[in-house]
Amino acid sequence: MQEIKLTSVVHSYDSLDDLPQVDKDLMNAAIGARGHAYAPYSHFYVGAAVLLDDGTIVLGNNQENVAYPSGLCAERTALFAAGANFPGKAVIKIAISAHSSDFEVVSPVYPCGACRQVMSEYEQLSKRPMEILMMGSSGGVHVVNGLINILPVAFNADNLKRK
Ligand code: THU
Repeated sequence: MQEIKLTSVVHSYDSLDDLPQVDKDLMNAAIGARGHAYAPYSHFYVGAAVLLDDGTIVLGNNQENVAYPSGLCAERTALFAAGANFPGKAVIKIAISAHSSDFEVVSPVYPCGACRQVMSEYEQLSKRPMEILMMGSSGGVHVVNGLINILPVAFNADNLKRK
């Protein structure tokens, strides 16, 4: 028996102002996108901004539905919009920010499992680690460089191939 240790690296910033300008701009785009979220059931408004390799920024936000599971998270809305409108363009970064009308979101919001799986596939297509920047409505920002840090040992397309 061998023990395999998995490690994650998270860069924690006290304030958005501590990030490079390109990252601040991307997070501010996510904060703006939050404003158009449709979240009448959770009151939890999430925005996502995807940066493509040609500098294009694609926005998304959560879109809820009265049949709850029919809704979609901000991250997948943004990534699928990028895939649909800019096919073949590599995804460099995604910024995520969340706001609630019921309480202050002081901790960075990490993507749900389904969004991590979708990110993982776009990362593989992009052939480079995807940087993920996460924040709440106030407080600090967490940054990870690559899905490996939040979705280690992921199921991916290689698993479908006969070895
Ligand atoms: N949500 C997102 O859009 N992204 C996340 O990372 C976490 C959760 C949405 C889904 C739902 O509309 C609401 O937030 C509450 O879960």
